[in-house]
Amino acid sequence: MTTTPFEAFDAAAIHEGNKALGFDHDAIAEQTHELLGRMTLAQKINEIRGLQPEPIEGLYYAGGDDELGIAAWKMVDGPRGARTGKATAFPVAIARAASFDVDLERRVGKAIGLETLAKGGNVLLAPCINLLRHPGWGRAQESYSEDTHLTGAMAVAFVSGAQNHVLTSPKHLALNNLENTRFDLTSDVDARTLHELYLPHFKRCVVEAQAASVMSAYNRVNGVYCGEHPELLTDTLRRRWDFKGFVESDWFLGVRSTSESIKAGLNIEMPFGKFFSDKKIAAAIEAGELTDEDIDTAAYWSLYQKVAWSIEEGSVAGDSGSIAVVESDAHLDLAREAARKSFVLLKNSSDVLPIDRRSTRRIAVVGDLADTVNLGDRGSSMVTSTKVITPLAGLQAEAGDCDLRFFATDADFAELGEFDVTIVIAGLTYLDEGEFIPSAQAESDGDDLARGGDRDSLNLPTDQRDLIERAAAASSRCVVVLQGGSAIVVSDWLASVDGLLMSWYGGCQGGAALAQVIFGDADPGGRLPVSIPRSEKDLMEWDTQALAVPHDLLHGYRWLDAHQSTAEFCFGYGLSYSAFELNDLQVQRNGDGFVVTVSVANTGSVRATAVPQLYVSVQNSQVMRVPTELKGFASLELDADETRLVQFQVADEELCFFDEAVDDFRLEAADYVFRAGQNLVELPLLRHWRFDGSAWSETRPG
Ligand code: GLC
Repeated sequence: MTTTPFEAFDAAAIHEGNKALGFDHDAIAEQTHELLGRMTLAQKINEIRGLQPEPIEGLYYAGGDDELGIAAWKMVDGPRGARTGKATAFPVAIARAASFDVDLERRVGKAIGLETLAKGGNVLLAPCINLLRHPGWGRAQESYSEDTHLTGAMAVAFVSGAQNHVLTSPKHLALNNLENTRFDLTSDVDARTLHELYLPHFKRCVVEAQAASVMSAYNRVNGVYCGEHPELLTDTLRRRWDFKGFVESDWFLGVRSTSESIKAGLNIEMPFGKFFSDKKIAAAIEAGELTDEDIDTAAYWSLYQKVAWSIEEGSVAGDSGSIAVVESDAHLDLAREAARKSFVLLKNSSDVLPIDRRSTRRIAVVGDLADTVNLGDRGSSMVTSTKVITPLAGLQAEAGDCDLRFFATDADFAELGEFDVTIVIAGLTYLDEGEFIPSAQAESDGDDLARGGDRDSLNLPTDQRDLIERAAAASSRCVVVLQGGSAIVVSDWLASVDGLLMSWYGGCQGGAALAQVIFGDADPGGRLPVSIPRSEKDLMEWDTQALAVPHDLLHGYRWLDAHQSTAEFCFGYGLSYSAFELNDLQVQRNGDGFVVTVSVANTGSVRATAVPQLYVSVQNSQVMRVPTELKGFASLELDADETRLVQFQVADEELCFFDEAVDDFRLEAADYVFRAGQNLVELPLLRHWRFDGSAWSETRPG
């Protein structure tokens, strides 16, 4: 047994190869100023806007000047793969967050960055890191979690992985967490909630992973459009975080003005210059609303990144990639690994899973989704792969001598009782949830352009519930495999099934990964990155047509805890094919923070994935505090009977609250309870520490 502790977040390994962490900023600044000094006003204006409304071979151009030898930005979505031509469709981001595996996310980011480069792109418009304030948000699938700590860790892993090859653009700054009304919505928030809950994951991307750009959001924050929000784009990004990247708008309606946007700190209007047109900028300068210096500042940050990354036609930092990497075996293997590590086993009565092929003769696979390509929404993050393995194809390929039969949703289920086990594939599709592009919705008469928008209900659609009820009633044993991009309320039919596996939108290899887990060739490694309530009534009010939404410190598990409401399945929850025990929690001071260790033992009979989690509760605080918050997690595979020491680092600044009186974070004299376990509600190991305002000391409970 290895004695070296497993580092929960190995920063050196996660950030390895991120080109932005090695830049010589003095040299870049000097070169950028020199270049800017040689440019005419027209050339500078050309640098601060996209080229045209439509992409060119899937790539959105911005800037570029042959005479000056300045290459264009070539931007491409998105969080689950390169959205141009065929590419590896990875599991959606929330699925990868369910793996709680930052190394895996780094590798996925790196692979998507490589495919982006190979396709001629140089800016990857990802990751999407808006919090799931409510799980009904249409683009929840595209983001990571309800929790800022999990979101931040996954996001920096993705950014550093992708920035091995191309620039990234964490999005959408900020509070873009309702879809249908995103163009008009105002997300209202006080400074403490903004800085303590909705910005930390953006800050990590900018400060820790040096994200090369950020995309501003469509919505308003406190009544001001994000594309013209000085507090977000200048005071927060530049003054507080020393951001050296550029800010591009979201597409079309992400810009609402000319001089207000540029003066607020927006650097590039995408996808083309409507407000940043020659005519409008000239009129703004003429009217004294804009100065040449304002244009210089906007152009500077875009040019700064072109200099930093040595952007040339078709290459980034001298590398142009190779088209052979696109949908390569290595990337398909990675997509399959990500899918199986994302699956969350929620119910497993009588160990109905895994299915033993030696003792199981007949398996029924039920539901149209089993034989459907269901990779997620059809918005800007959509990726099309050459080959997609559906659940049915995956199960058929691995069924061995089992007699596996498929039953469509409208089939007669009378003979299901003759099968040893029924596997129902049910859930949601892009018709139920996803990015909502009204023009496409209005124009689309076929189903290939539908956008689901936000979900009014967290329940399954009636036809899917009926499918499950009918199949379960006719079966001797019934397992439901759920597909979807967020929390789905299952309480009204959970008792009628024996097994439940959340498989999210599992990407082009999802069906192969599902077979690995169903037949026990791999353990379902996932845990919930979003709480699943017993009823949507247990969550805050959710109006998908709202035009003003108040944001506070309570949502997701924070809300449920504060309202003493028990989730059906809590944040961080997930079963395993094995069993684990955590012991010997140790919390020691280490510089400006803590090093926390816990022993994790696989007490079961098979190799499996453990996901130890660390939470902190602040007691005797002078301000309102949420009951407990995630401050650390790890994902590690352990053999049967293997024990490993897991080590977390918790910086003091992660224990601070945002004190509006000093407009900054502050470490409060209070009691801090470190709690370790396997999910939000199973935290048996405690350690108590007190900060008296100047020194820390370990205390005893009570
Ligand atoms: C979309 C999305 C954004 C995407 C952009 C380009 O409307 O909001 O996430 O990157 O347009 O497709």
